[in-house]
Amino acid sequence: MPNSIFEDKINKDLKIEPRDEMPDGYRSHLIRQMSQHAHSEIIGMQPEGNWITRAPSLRSKMILLAKVQDEAGHGLYLYSACETLGITRKQMIEELQTGKAKYSSIFNYPTLTWADIGAIGWLVDGAAIVNQVSLQKTSYGPYSRAMIKICKEESFHQRQGYEIICTLAKGTDEQKQMAQDALNRWWWPSIMMFGPHDKDSNRSEKALNWKIKRESNDSLRQSFIDKTVPQAELIGLKVPDDKLIWNEKTNHYDFGDIDWEEFWNVVNGKGLCNKERIEHHKKAHNEGEWVRKAAVAYSEKKLNKKVA
Ligand code: 3HC
Repeated sequence: MPNSIFEDKINKDLKIEPRDEMPDGYRSHLIRQMSQHAHSEIIGMQPEGNWITRAPSLRSKMILLAKVQDEAGHGLYLYSACETLGITRKQMIEELQTGKAKYSSIFNYPTLTWADIGAIGWLVDGAAIVNQVSLQKTSYGPYSRAMIKICKEESFHQRQGYEIICTLAKGTDEQKQMAQDALNRWWWPSIMMFGPHDKDSNRSEKALNWKIKRESNDSLRQSFIDKTVPQAELIGLKVPDDKLIWNEKTNHYDFGDIDWEEFWNVVNGKGLCNKERIEHHKKAHNEGEWVRKAAVAYSEKKLNKKVA
């Protein structure tokens, strides 16, 4: 017998809405995860934005511009959905800039060549899609609805990235080597995106019980690997894992050990770009203050006109 309306709704796979009663732990778990998700979308704009002025054609520049703009929108949906839980945008930004809140480790790696932009779309957005398609079924209504909208745009992101990598893989030997080099550098950080192994996850059990997470880290990671390895092989690229082998019995790829020391170093601020990413965010946030002030002044003026 459920102890509360909340439990009854969770058991019946009904969405929890902002005005519903919910345990404090459910609320704080969502604020943590959703705000960090939003931070990841916004910080993720930096590595890609770095190549907008250097895109190799007008078409690729337009596509990259559209993608980076989409990521800003994803951050906006997620910040707005998170605000329904009672945290302000200001608090979330402060937590990001002071290091109290995390963002995805993957965005602390540098984008060295144009092939990296392809690898980000193909692998990072590919991993994000696997995670976010599952999150469409999350128990918190505003988060679930944000995921449904975001997933529609994410598939364009993955396809444009894979198109870049395919073009390079079919190009000159030097271009094919660029694509392989990008796969070598981005493969392992992409599978780290799914978080620690289930046995080492300090959050998963509650997340799964509250139906915030609908699949475990390892299950989502496995789905991503199973889907992505054939895409690499199709264009003649080699996944940088000597232990990768198809397992007929399990119908999945077996793969090598993840370097969790690297993962936690990056998560804990010692990655190649952590400092740069936050400094850039602070600079952009400060330079954009006048825009925020103007928008608030405009909306207040409009509101006063309506009231008068
Ligand atoms: N980067 C940084 N921190 C990570 C991480 C990663 N890749 N994976 C896990 N962590 C952190 C967790 O936040 C948690 O720390 P905290 O308690 O201080 O928050 C700790 O490591 C333990 O990890 P758990 O797996 O136990 O924690 P969660 O249950 O929260 O699972 C998660 C981690 C799978 C990332 C989950 O939070 C999640 O699904 N988040 C939503 C999706 C998301 O944030 N994706 C980030 C990428 S967004 C993106 O790629 C945009 C695309 O458009 C490019």
